[in-house]
Amino acid sequence: MQTQKNFNLKSYNTFGFDVSCKGFISCNTIDQLQGALSYIKQYPQPYLILGGGSNILFSNNFNGIVIHPAMKEICSVKENDEHIWLDVQAGVVWDELVEHCVNNNWFGLENLSYIPGNVGASPVQNIGAYGAEVKDCIEQVNGIFIENNQAFSLSAEACQFAYRQSIFKGELKNKTVITSVVFKLNKTESYNLSYGPIKEQVEKMGKITLPNVRTAIIDIRKSKLPEPEELGNAGSFFKNPVISKEQFATLHEQHSSVPSYPVTHDLIKIPAGWLIEQAGWKGKALGKAAVHNKQALVLVNKGGASGKDMLELAHTIMQDVNNKFGISIEPEVNII
Ligand code: FAD
Ligand code: EPU
Repeated sequence: MQTQKNFNLKSYNTFGFDVSCKGFISCNTIDQLQGALSYIKQYPQPYLILGGGSNILFSNNFNGIVIHPAMKEICSVKENDEHIWLDVQAGVVWDELVEHCVNNNWFGLENLSYIPGNVGASPVQNIGAYGAEVKDCIEQVNGIFIENNQAFSLSAEACQFAYRQSIFKGELKNKTVITSVVFKLNKTESYNLSYGPIKEQVEKMGKITLPNVRTAIIDIRKSKLPEPEELGNAGSFFKNPVISKEQFATLHEQHSSVPSYPVTHDLIKIPAGWLIEQAGWKGKALGKAAVHNKQALVLVNKGGASGKDMLELAHTIMQDVNNKFGISIEPEVNII
């Protein structure tokens, strides 16, 4: 285990902010990870568990130790005629796992193609896209409690998954390191093509197949979302707000074109991208921090912006949306 002192985090945050941490420990094995946790117990100081840095905003340099789980094994743990169970370590790049599954004809993760980041972070906000959420394929999450270096395993139910939410963002926030995730995948053909334009896009390619679904999703994503290497960003900056049926009725009276998605009988999800666009922010900038011109939910670093610039833009947008619609939007990105 080696601590790299005064480590620059520019390539470990997809906003591309030029920030550093006091120490950076990359762990290739569980032993190294346990060593890193013993170190912060022995020398107490701020710590942060960091995967690919694609859902994080550093508002400043980080005055502590960053622990980066980099264990990369994928093991098949069980198999029957219908399913295969994979135990995938935290440091595996998320989209490499999706590609591996598609190549092996295992169904379940394909709608989550091309989401940046690592497997270890996937349960944290229960990543989701195009009608799928990772919880639908998670059987178990394994990890270590930071406080006492003890291993744990949680069933999917115990993880309390919800829209962009889990126990790891709630009760267990900053208290665990996820070391691996057990996924249950289908070996028999099953697709989820209900969201927006996916079905149409796949049909344009001819047959509905797993590789075609993956390609369609990647194409749609590339047409809307900026590549972090070209334009720093962390995907959706805000969560889509969920409002009551009554609040929606009032909103609809004033803005009949508002898009909506039912969540439960009483709750309705509104796309924050629409609210931000209607508030006049799409494509606009505040200094070097800007709102993406193809997807208003994504805040981008036009080059040289800082975390503070991005937060100033975010707060101004939140205020404007609230003034115009009476709806509070909350950041999805983790602010450090
Ligand atoms: P990080 O940003 O490193 O960390 C995120 C949080 O998880 C932090 O709080 C961190 O402390 C914690 N964490 C990370 N690893 C661990 C671990 N092993 N144990 C415990 N805690 C940990 N998200 C979606 O849901 N859907 C999308 O469609 C989507 N599209 C995106 C598109 C772009 C262009 C970008 C830049 C981001 C997008 N995201 C999307 C957000 C992001 O990719 C996901 O949230 C991803 O899971 C973050 O992974 P990461 O490894 O980069 O996590
Ligand atoms: N919209 C606008 N203007 C915009 C953007 C969106 O009016 O600038 C409206 C349109 O009506 C559009 C609707 O919002 O039909 C939905 O847009 P989109 O399909 O792009 O999805 P989203 O709700 O903006 C969510 C996720 C994304 C995920 C996509 C696809 C959240 C916070 N975001 O975005 O996740 O990829 O759906 O499923 O739920 C992320 O979490 O980082 C992320 C990118």
